[in-house]
Amino acid sequence: MNQVDYLRISLIDRCNFRCQYCMPEGAELDYILKQQLLTDQELLTLIQKVFIPVGFTRFRLTGGEPLLRPRMLDLVKAIASFPQIQDLSMTTNGFLLAPMAQSLYNAGLRRINISLDSLDPDIFNQIIGNNGRSRWQQVWDGIQSAYNVGFDPLKLNVVIIPGVNDHEVLDLAALTIDRQWHVRFIEFMPIGNWQLFGDRGWVSSAELRQQICDRWGLSESQVCGAGPADVFQIPGAQGTLGFISQMSECFCDRCNRMRLSADGWLRPCLLNETGQIDLKTALRSGISTTQLQEQVRQLLAIKPEINFKQRDSGTTAAYSRTMSQIGG
Ligand code: GTP
Ligand code: 5AD
Ligand code: SF4
Repeated sequence: MNQVDYLRISLIDRCNFRCQYCMPEGAELDYILKQQLLTDQELLTLIQKVFIPVGFTRFRLTGGEPLLRPRMLDLVKAIASFPQIQDLSMTTNGFLLAPMAQSLYNAGLRRINISLDSLDPDIFNQIIGNNGRSRWQQVWDGIQSAYNVGFDPLKLNVVIIPGVNDHEVLDLAALTIDRQWHVRFIEFMPIGNWQLFGDRGWVSSAELRQQICDRWGLSESQVCGAGPADVFQIPGAQGTLGFISQMSECFCDRCNRMRLSADGWLRPCLLNETGQIDLKTALRSGISTTQLQEQVRQLLAIKPEINFKQRDSGTTAAYSRTMSQIGG
């Protein structure tokens, strides 16, 4: 059985972008109320006294947009100080990153994945919603700062939406030639914005790979990480190309992760709500951390049956939630 040792922790469900495929402008979302968010102390207690003892060694901070979390740097520093943690990373939209990159690195964060769906500010605007045009440069500066500070590997996440940014595949792939950046193409999933998915459809990794291969050739490669990407390289390039193919392949059998939402729900699968447990309420009711460990172990034991296995899909309640609500 696959070892599940990777926890993705959503620090906040809010975001300063309105990506069309996630939480488009005008969508009515029920945000988590402040008193329902796990406090810093509750989060640290869960990591130190529940998840680490149960065997989790890799932690990724997500959102919404994790950099919107108040006192973010103190939290990263506290999490990074646990010696059992082997990998501490973050997935961000990069907008607030430039001025924070050095401090995040100093606090102990070492890996960062940044969304970048277009190299064209106008298309970026179209994808991320309000003020995108001026925001592109700020995200680009964030990527450069993260690279200069020493985040390694530095990964860029691209969701290709047919008719919107599919003509940029080669330009985005070319970023990896002279830079040690790792660009990953993520297949568009019907999570969040169903309508856009229905209108536009999605492009398979195989098609994108073929396009890139026709232009430069591709060889298999590797890059540090624990995610579902299949990794390739343009011959002689400094960086790599990853393909995350949740629509065309099923990687659920090698799933190594669970998710903790910003309000303390532990979810065994991105796409299936079955089995989730409310750790915040349990913790606040005074239950011991040993009992909480036991609850997590029980969930780990049944995770293989809960894993969604997308390709068998009908519909699922989880699909109606956005990535920002589930926690990346
Ligand atoms: P590393 O390889 O460790 O850097 O992590 P990662 O690639 O999992 O991290 P990231 O947050 O950048 O995730 C990229 C994308 O992969 C997400 O936005 C999802 O689209 C997809 N993904 C991540 N985890 C899962 C999962 O459990 N199930 C499915 N279906 N997709 C996932
Ligand atoms: N399909 C694919 N990827 C998505 N993301 C958000 N919503 C979707 C979706 N519907 C990705 C973003 C970001 C990560 C946190 O989740 O591109 O890289
Ligand atoms: Fe924000 Fe990420 Fe969702 Fe875009 S995909 S709206 S950046 S949480």
